[in-house]
Amino acid sequence: MSREAISISDDSVALVKRLLSETARRVDEHLLQYLPEVGQPAQQVTEAMRHSLTGGKRIRPMVVLQSAGTFGLSADAAMPTACGFELLHTATLIHDDLPAIDDSSLRRARPSCHAAFDEATAILAGDALIIAAYDALATQAQIEAVAPGAVLQVIAEFGAYAGAGGVIGGELADIHGETVGTDRELLEYIHLNKTAKLFEAATRAGAILAEAPGEHIEIIGSYGRSLGLLFQVTDDILDVTSSAEALGKPTGADEQAGKQTYPALVGLDGARQHARDLAEQAVVLADRLPANHPFWRGLVKLVLDRQA
Ligand code: IPE
Ligand code: IPE
Ligand code: MG
Ligand code: MG
Ligand code: MG
Repeated sequence: MSREAISISDDSVALVKRLLSETARRVDEHLLQYLPEVGQPAQQVTEAMRHSLTGGKRIRPMVVLQSAGTFGLSADAAMPTACGFELLHTATLIHDDLPAIDDSSLRRARPSCHAAFDEATAILAGDALIIAAYDALATQAQIEAVAPGAVLQVIAEFGAYAGAGGVIGGELADIHGETVGTDRELLEYIHLNKTAKLFEAATRAGAILAEAPGEHIEIIGSYGRSLGLLFQVTDDILDVTSSAEALGKPTGADEQAGKQTYPALVGLDGARQHARDLAEQAVVLADRLPANHPFWRGLVKLVLDRQA
């Protein structure tokens, strides 16, 4: 039986939409400084990096900046770290689209990296973006308002959440999942690792830079994890219900590849119910934060109802 929609004001959602477009603009002003100008004969790799960075909703950097702001650090002061998350995220998208993984030729409403360039360039552009992400995270130490120890903690956590014990492991499990029947435990592992852990790391990063109390870092990290799980469930739903025009990436691909998804496991209605449950979990955690409630609540609703 479906329950009532969670009550989050339209004003909160409007606030998040406004912040998201502002963040996208500001992040885009900073991102490209982390791409080295290498000249010929290697210039193509930076062209490929720039190509793949273009577009994108910039949700993860917004989460880093707003988490910093929630705990009293000015959002601008966390910009290098916010860029680091977007650089890494974009690298994972390039590699996710490769023929050996999801074999997808459309990303961010443009040809995916290997389609626009070639496979070797896409592999190397992804590698270089991961390195650029660490460059951005290290640059955070130049911001005086932030303690060097906090920067080091963020870098260490980034490695733990994004590496083989996180995003990369999730991606490998996702490929393995194509070869076996629906399996709830495996699906949960995939969603947690390939997507939720980066959201968790992003929420924690802003709070760590702001030197929030440990208890608050845990709460905002748990919120980030629930939000990330919700984000991937809605991604799976949109793969079934939306269009390539709306999403800027192919649809119907998960079913075709035999992916582990909530629609495959419990049907579309079951997936939507699971999304509402995760949204409720996230709202409970949002309400335990010390500030910025309209933003953190509005973000849950934005992700729950997203059409792209
Ligand atoms: C796509 O992430 C990958 C998933 C985790 C589902 P986004 O939907 O945030 O992609 P961009 O950054 O807006 O392109
Ligand atoms: C991707 O999951 C998660 C990543 C870590 C890249 P998907 O394979 O579902 O993402 P899309 O649908 O291609 O964006
Ligand atoms: Mg994938
Ligand atoms: Mg994919
Ligand atoms: Mg998907």
